[in-house]
Amino acid sequence: MESRLRGRDFLDIADLDVATCRSILDTARRHKAGADPGKPLRGRTVAMVFLRPSNRTRVSFEVAIHRLGGHPIALFDREIEMGRRESVADVARILDRFVDGLVARIPSHRDLLGLAEHMRAPVINAMTDASHPCQVLADCLTLKEVVGRVAGARVAFIGDGNNVCASWIEAASLLGINLTVVSPPGYEPDPAQLARAGGTVHLTHEAAEGVADADIVYTDVWTSMGQEAEHEQRRQDFGPYQVNAALLRAAPPSARVMHCLPAHRGEEITDEVLDGPQAVVFAQAENRLWVQQALLAAIFHGKAEPRPDPASAGAGASGAGPDGREAAEPG
Ligand code: CP
Ligand code: NVA
Repeated sequence: MESRLRGRDFLDIADLDVATCRSILDTARRHKAGADPGKPLRGRTVAMVFLRPSNRTRVSFEVAIHRLGGHPIALFDREIEMGRRESVADVARILDRFVDGLVARIPSHRDLLGLAEHMRAPVINAMTDASHPCQVLADCLTLKEVVGRVAGARVAFIGDGNNVCASWIEAASLLGINLTVVSPPGYEPDPAQLARAGGTVHLTHEAAEGVADADIVYTDVWTSMGQEAEHEQRRQDFGPYQVNAALLRAAPPSARVMHCLPAHRGEEITDEVLDGPQAVVFAQAENRLWVQQALLAAIFHGKAEPRPDPASAGAGASGAGPDGREAAEPG
C-alpha cells in the first residue's frame, strides 16, 4: 500500500488519517511476527536531536533506523545548543543539507514546528512538552495485543494532562478509543483539545470511578522532564492518584497496567503494581521499536534516493537547493 505518510512529517497523531494509522499498526505487527521490513532507509541518514534525556525513544529509533538500512546520527543539546548557539531555523537549514530525516525530542512544540517548516526532509516528533505521538502510537499496538482491539478499548489515563495524555486524546478521537482521563484539579488536559475530541474522551477527578470499567489503567510520571522545580508541590497534588493495589481493586480484575516509563517508583506507581502480574510495561516499551520501524518504513518507502550535494550538482554555487527554495538567500 502506498503510504500517505511517504516523505511527510509525523508531528502529531492528529496528522494521520485512520487508514494510515491502522496501516502502520498492521505493519508493526507483521514486522514483530518476523516479516522482513526490507531496507527502505538504505543509503539514508537520519539525524536525531535529543534536547531532553531518553532511553526508550532514542535507542528504539536508532535500532529501527539501523534495521531499515539507514545511518542514525544522535545529537545532544551540549553539541548543537539549539536556539542559543544558532537559531532553530538555521539548525534546520543546515541539517536539511546533510540528512534525509530528523527525529526530534525538544521541549518546545513551537520549535518542532519551526524545524519542520525549515526542512524539506521529514521531521518526526520524539516528544515535546505538548505531545508524544510515537509513544501513544506504539501503545495502540499494545492495546491491540492486550485487549484484542483498539477501537472500543477502554483506557483510563491517570495523571497529568500534558504531553502523553494529549496524544492519547488525539488517538482516542482518531481511532474510537474510549478514554477516561483522571487528573487532579489544576492538571487537566487542555479544555479546547478535550472539546475537539468529542464523546470518546471523558474527564473525572475521581480515580476509582475512572478505572471502574477499564481494560487498561495507564499512568505517567507526576513530574515531567523540565518540571523538576515543581516536584514537591506535584507530589502533594498527585498523591491521591497513585496507581497502587487499592486502586487496582477498583478496576476489573482483567485490567492491565501500562506506563510510558520511565517510572518514578513509589510516586505515580508502586513497585507492587509495576512488578505485578497485571503490568505489561516492558512489552509495551518493546513496541516502541516495532511501531517506529513501521512509521519510518511508511515515511521512507519508495522515496527518492538522497538529494545530490547541491555543490556538486552545480546548485550550491548560487546557494540554491535542488528546488531553488533558498536561491534568494545569501550564499
Ligand atoms: N517513554 C519514553 O519516551 O521514554 P524515554 O524518555 O526513555 O525515551
Ligand atoms: N510526561 C513525561 C513523559 C516521559 C516519556 C515527560 O514529559 O517527562
